[in-house]
Amino acid sequence: MNGECIVINGGRRLEGSVTVHGAKNAVLPLLAAGILTDEELTVEDCPYISDVDAMTDLLAETGARVTRDGRRICVSGKATSARASETLCKSMRSSMFMLGALLSSAGSVEMPLPGGCDIGARPLDIHLDGLRRMGARTECDGNFLRCTADKLHGADIFMRYPSVGATENLLMCASLAEGNTMLVNCAREPEIVALARGLKAMGAKISGEGTSVIKVEGVKRLGGAVLSAGGDRIVAGTVLAAVSLCGGDATIYGVSPDDMRSVIQAFRSRYCEVEESGVCLRVRSQGRVRAKSVITAPYPLFPTDMQPQYFACQCFSDGTSKICETVFDGRFAHAREFAKMGADISVCANSATVFGKEKGMRGAALIASDLRGGAGLCIAALKTEGESRVYNPHFIDRGYENFEAMFSSLGADIRRERFPS
Ligand code: EPU
Repeated sequence: MNGECIVINGGRRLEGSVTVHGAKNAVLPLLAAGILTDEELTVEDCPYISDVDAMTDLLAETGARVTRDGRRICVSGKATSARASETLCKSMRSSMFMLGALLSSAGSVEMPLPGGCDIGARPLDIHLDGLRRMGARTECDGNFLRCTADKLHGADIFMRYPSVGATENLLMCASLAEGNTMLVNCAREPEIVALARGLKAMGAKISGEGTSVIKVEGVKRLGGAVLSAGGDRIVAGTVLAAVSLCGGDATIYGVSPDDMRSVIQAFRSRYCEVEESGVCLRVRSQGRVRAKSVITAPYPLFPTDMQPQYFACQCFSDGTSKICETVFDGRFAHAREFAKMGADISVCANSATVFGKEKGMRGAALIASDLRGGAGLCIAALKTEGESRVYNPHFIDRGYENFEAMFSSLGADIRRERFPS
């Protein structure tokens, strides 16, 4: 545990408005795309979160010049080193983007296998299979990855699963490969669309992003551009979950409701109204939760990154529901922590049965062990009367900019405390 925790005195309604920051999972690959050109690439709306800091450090390590001016980050100059360091790669999964970006720009990459949140097995076979089809040689000894390519060429690639990261890596490589690439069964998340649009602004020829078949006509070079990531749909969903659980009336700005269809659908109930207009959502909730089962799956279905927050709400529901996690095989660590608060849950493999309790939950000392799980614990604590302490907030800092400030602005009693470690 690091020497900090988030202290929450729950039981307050949430009222007011928040504007969500730029989308972490769109900003990270856009930044990595900065080394695909020797001109300047600017990414706007970059949030102050630790995963963005780690990505800028990784890019700087490859020799690129990276500067930050408020929320704008500029990357300029191609990579001069194809090696990514152990500490940074192990610290976050998004180091996986160095695979596509470095291979494409420097012709080789040597890196330890990416780390990141412990939410289950996270192999790279789909990435590597695609890269091999484009002409790369890959070697992986279980800990360390080496890929080289004299020249990448276009290919028809069928992905056995619509992996977000693999689609992004292959898009970056295909953009500068010789000839045409067709990616079949690719991921359709809004973050894929953001990357494809960014690459197109840099001169890439891509069509079909947002569908399961993407076509790329390789170009000889990419140029500079100014790109924007758009608001973070998971941060918006986290606020939606908290307001629906605690009760209140809040407006969430800066996100496209169209990107959150399945999430809005899951939270709408006879107790909770969600109104959509343009780039905002208004949530009005009585603070009761309808028991409703959910299954996570690739976009446009219910996102795995909202599962812990949804799970937190179901602990307080008016009945019994099931939560089935199909994307990652180890994303239920929060269930054990909810049980410390009095939740009645039975977990069997990747499926959890939650016997909702409208009363009788209590504050507790909770240990976060991943980013979204940590957010889920805080949401449960915001609802529960009495004090809860959420340890390991550094996980939350990976993806939420000033989590406590966002919820205090809605009237929550939440603060960060340091303690001697
Ligand atoms: N998979 C494979 N082989 C591969 C790649 C993936 O078996 O080569 C499996 C994974 O093990 C997992 C599933 O496919 O079971 C989905 O993985 P995916 O590759 O789609 O996920 P990712 O690219 O590693 C991104 C987000 C995650 C988000 C997932 C799913 C980034 C930086 N990360 O991860 O975000 O959960 O897509 O939507 O974009 C988060 O923000 O908290 C987070 C974990």
